[in-house]
Amino acid sequence: MSKEPGLSTNTENKSYQVNTYSRYNVEFVRGDGVYLFDKAGNKYLDLLSGISVTGLGHKNKKLINAAVNQIDNLWHTSNLFTSTPQEQLAKKLCEKSGLSKVFFCNSGTEANEAAIKFARKFGKGKSTIITTDGSFHGRTYGSLSASAQEKLWEGFQPLTPGFQHTPYNNIESIKNAIDETTIAIMVEPIQGENGIVIPSHNYLNEIRNLCDEKNLLMIIDEIQTGYGRTGKFFAYQHNNILPDIVTSAKGIANGLPLGAVICSEKVAEAITPGSHGSTFGGNPISIAVANKVIELITPEVLEYINSIGLKLAEKIKSEQIIEIEEIRNKGLMFGLKINSNIDVKLLAKSFLDEKIVVGTAGNNVLRLLPPYVIDVKNIDHFVYILKDLFKKMNISTKAS
Ligand SMILES: Cc1ncc(COP(=O)(O)O)c(C=O)c1O
Repeated sequence: MSKEPGLSTNTENKSYQVNTYSRYNVEFVRGDGVYLFDKAGNKYLDLLSGISVTGLGHKNKKLINAAVNQIDNLWHTSNLFTSTPQEQLAKKLCEKSGLSKVFFCNSGTEANEAAIKFARKFGKGKSTIITTDGSFHGRTYGSLSASAQEKLWEGFQPLTPGFQHTPYNNIESIKNAIDETTIAIMVEPIQGENGIVIPSHNYLNEIRNLCDEKNLLMIIDEIQTGYGRTGKFFAYQHNNILPDIVTSAKGIANGLPLGAVICSEKVAEAITPGSHGSTFGGNPISIAVANKVIELITPEVLEYINSIGLKLAEKIKSEQIIEIEEIRNKGLMFGLKINSNIDVKLLAKSFLDEKIVVGTAGNNVLRLLPPYVIDVKNIDHFVYILKDLFKKMNISTKAS
């Protein structure tokens, strides 16, 4: 067989992408609401939303129209120029959060990088940021160094200095860690990647009080929990507090790349032209979609997220499934702690074989982050398959 010079043939079906993910051998080519479709036309129930991203469902007509309208008019200029849609979105985010200023970037890790820089600029020499064990804030060096999970650091040292890690859900350990170099406490309201770990209800209030007392900034990472996921627009709003900095991404534009750092006036005052920036941050298409996303996450949608989330929790509880040791849930953010006899990665793969998309996280936790358009029929189907898979997996565990 002749081969054109300079072109290689991919005869071994090998991937040309760097091996950063163990990908399933399933390719989705279309989505619609709570469903995904593969190349062969098989229909899958999506209970993961691209890891807390497509909350408003796939192929949402209103979002498509917002994107198409923008694509037809303008794709990109530069943040050197004024943009009314960016201003409109920034104003909406300030109104939703109770804060005063917004910086747009492209992803969660970038939002956290910006928050770290803003806090240190504000700190005028004070630079230590306290974060929590098991946290996940992203993969770039600042966010990676903030993330207190040794397995993420392997091979990537030296990390960025200036982070102190303390146990999650433990206010005393934070108090003990504060010294004259401390400028901020950075925390997830629920630890997502660590297995949907929900702290005691007062934890965030205690951190807020401590920050007030010690004159520190409270940074809340809402990247996985924001935009309605937990039944409030932002998860910290369950606690009636106001952080100094909120970082967000994922659900903000239902799948188009966008991140937003929302901060108080006093933090924003530390930042001047040239302090920070991004070529693509706040690109017109993502911004157009995000403006519509904010409009679509109405109080009624938040109410539905709470009520359907409770139905899912009640349904699982009512089945008394012995393989589930704990149900961790808020709104439509679910972690099911699975008995260690069952390998949760294998369970997730078995779900995929049954045409249901689920995730995993932390220590043997099955993670569910369904789109907000999920209904009772979908819940019943999921629980039916869950029970069936446990039955089959228990049989094969016993047989082996
Ligand atoms: C809480 C939290 N922070 C930060 C990130 C990083 O976001 P991204 O993957 O968009 O960089 C994630 C991603 O899972 C996250 O869950």
